[in-house]
Amino acid sequence: MSERGPKPSSARKRVKPIAIDVRVPAQTLSYPVIIGCGVIDRLGDELRRRHGAPTRVALISDDNVFPLHGDGVQASLEAQGLKVVPIVVAAGEASKQVPVLLNIVEQLLKAGFGRGDAIVALGGGVIGDLAGLAAALFMRGIPVVQCPTSLLAQVDASVGGKVAVDLPAGKNLLGAFHFPLAVFIDPEFLSTLDDRQLASGLAEMLKHGALFSAEHFHQLVDSADAFFARDLDVIAPLIAASVGLKAACVGRDPWEQSNAGKGRVLLNFGHTIGHAIEVASDYGLAHGEAVALGMRAATRLACAKKLAGPELEEQVVSALERLRLPTDLDLWLEGERGAAVERALAHDKKRSGGNVSFVTLSEIGDPSVISLNFRELFARVRR
Ligand SMILES: NC(=O)c1ccc[n+]([C@@H]2O[C@H](COP(=O)([O-])OP(=O)(O)OC[C@H]3O[C@@H](n4cnc5c(N)ncnc54)[C@H](O)[C@@H]3O)[C@@H](O)[C@H]2O)c1
Repeated sequence: MSERGPKPSSARKRVKPIAIDVRVPAQTLSYPVIIGCGVIDRLGDELRRRHGAPTRVALISDDNVFPLHGDGVQASLEAQGLKVVPIVVAAGEASKQVPVLLNIVEQLLKAGFGRGDAIVALGGGVIGDLAGLAAALFMRGIPVVQCPTSLLAQVDASVGGKVAVDLPAGKNLLGAFHFPLAVFIDPEFLSTLDDRQLASGLAEMLKHGALFSAEHFHQLVDSADAFFARDLDVIAPLIAASVGLKAACVGRDPWEQSNAGKGRVLLNFGHTIGHAIEVASDYGLAHGEAVALGMRAATRLACAKKLAGPELEEQVVSALERLRLPTDLDLWLEGERGAAVERALAHDKKRSGGNVSFVTLSEIGDPSVISLNFRELFARVRR
């Protein structure tokens, strides 16, 4: 009769552990970002060229953008013989949620989508993140082409491969890295974007300049009027410059693994306090507006800690004013609002489990990362 159950460990024959190295060919991480007025007309053609022959394309958009720009994009795809299935969700951050994501997946299944098909994301950062995550998850991943229509999505959200939805516990908590097949940035979309959203995108552009290029920073300030006049001859090259700065940063650290040096962590400049203000405003502030206040806070901290000269905060404030962005930081640090910002910061700190890694500048174009206790952080930026 054989013994039941595992043998005592002393009686087990010692077998050398076997290690098999599974070699996965390195995923190709490069993708083209095509920038220029009218490039969207080439979408169908480029999609065919880069992806071979998807039979179906889901054109995912929101109910502001689709009525304005959906027809043209759909026509460009159909001209290449692609069957287009439009999926339109409600505009706004509230659509970046699991039920909306699952609904998209169900619509793809219902329309008979398979692994050879593709998704085109046409909209702001909300659509890019939502459609990108649907592409990452559907049948373990299908290609996505990003066609950003807000300035913020053109210069920031569409480049870098981060896609996500929000959870009740916080923003972007369910996500993935899913690099796009290509990004099509057509500045002509900006003709229908309102000034407040345009300024919100300018905040992220200013961030790229503040971190990586004083020249870009000053060019943006000098071009403020051209932006609000939608002078595309001025705007298009500046978008390309800003995308280039972000692309170089994400290229150095595609999976956000490097905490120091010149990795993706730098792109959090203005986002630590900015994000807390965005939460405290109950998302009443646009993302870039909150980042603008966060950038002021970060430079104030640098000045208070003598990491930068006293003129840095004023330099940033005057740039934000030119770009029609808010600068009234103190309003968000006092009274009820201040308490709400502090709570949001404490919540973020709890998640990061210790000190806050805080990105600041010693001067425009020269970033650094410091580690800081969140109470000190708050005390230093409060006047
Ligand atoms: N993945 C990333 O790396 C990354 C980076 C930054 C921000 N984000 C995410 O991006 C989102 C914010 O992006 P956003 O500011 O573009 O927000 P959004 O997508 O909500 O767009 C802002 C508003 O502008 C409208 N809109 C967009 N393009 C338009 C156009 N051409 N004409 C008229 N209206 C237009 C939208 O319908 C919406 O009402 C946030 O969810 C944020 O988390 C992601």
